[in-house]
Amino acid sequence: MKALILSGGKGTRLRPLTYTCAKQLVPVANKPVLFRVIEAIVAAGITDIGIVVGDTAPEIKAAAGDGSQWEAKITYIQQQAPLGLAHAVKISEDFLTNDRFVMFLGDNVIEGGVTALVEQFTASDWNAQIVLKSVPNPQQFGVAELDSGRIIRLVEKPAEPKSDLAVVGIYMFDRTIFKAVNSIEPSWRGELEITDAIQYLVDEGQKVYPYIHKGWWIDTGKMEDMLTANRLILEALEYRMEGSVDSKSQLVGKVIIEEGAEIINSVIRGPAIIGEHTRIVNSYIGPFTSIYHHCLIEETEIEFSMVLENSRIVDIEQRIDHSLIGRNVEVTKSSVKPRAYRLVLGDHSRVGIL
Ligand code: G1P
Repeated sequence: MKALILSGGKGTRLRPLTYTCAKQLVPVANKPVLFRVIEAIVAAGITDIGIVVGDTAPEIKAAAGDGSQWEAKITYIQQQAPLGLAHAVKISEDFLTNDRFVMFLGDNVIEGGVTALVEQFTASDWNAQIVLKSVPNPQQFGVAELDSGRIIRLVEKPAEPKSDLAVVGIYMFDRTIFKAVNSIEPSWRGELEITDAIQYLVDEGQKVYPYIHKGWWIDTGKMEDMLTANRLILEALEYRMEGSVDSKSQLVGKVIIEEGAEIINSVIRGPAIIGEHTRIVNSYIGPFTSIYHHCLIEETEIEFSMVLENSRIVDIEQRIDHSLIGRNVEVTKSSVKPRAYRLVLGDHSRVGIL
């Protein structure tokens, strides 16, 4: 069994973060989403992993390397243009050869991983198995229609969905998928759609079965979804204390302090994670907050937020809430006259001011 992770895509819905960072590398609960995907695959016993990369290839390669940090072997497959998920399968045939494989979108996070799915597909003679989840807004996804336990129809983002079963972005295939991806035509958006390829399998009489996922699943493509994924993962993490906390500080609930982090005269209410070598001074960190490595939070209150590496937030009077703050960001009180907001914001930034 092999794995194929799709990590192309421009991440336009996550701007401005994705101007400088591949969306799959945005850390959720202080770990890049892509690393969580790789861990889930390795936990299912698969170590031969292909990653399809696009414009952000250098960054993804620098972060994931040859896979040895997970005792896995990673092969990179370059996609020249974002021509669709089925196109990504097409260009990966030389890597996948005759093996059955799991395909995983690199910006998806799923509760409980993929071990049960991989085991079920391995024990079957099915040609494909598609992970589905009942959702309130199926029109935003691929939608499946079932009959007698089999998938009989898949439609990409239908205006009038026939069921509430969304295609999650995790798929099991055998090599019959190559004939399908080589036979379909591009859709109206100019992409080779994986839903069309799966429909082709169904129409050819191949065995296409669902896997109904009961736990949570987040496609981290938008800021709101990032914060939700951060909250859900923080809730599931184990307590860990590798840094230092002074006697004037108070930790409440599940709090993770990573190596070299310092908590000084501060209150941290979990679930929350404080990254390596980050300093929290005279501050309050509230629930569902992740502060990544080498940050400084001083004289500030912040909750339900994510702060990425090397950022400084100092002397902020009002509490910061529900915020996604990027890398190397400075938020400080402006003391020079005239008294005014002083903003240096990149394109697509959003600021809520009191
Ligand atoms: C893709 C698939 C869609 C699936 C979704 C899951 O959509 O085409 O069927 O439901 O991922 O995240 P996209 O994110 O490319 O619009």
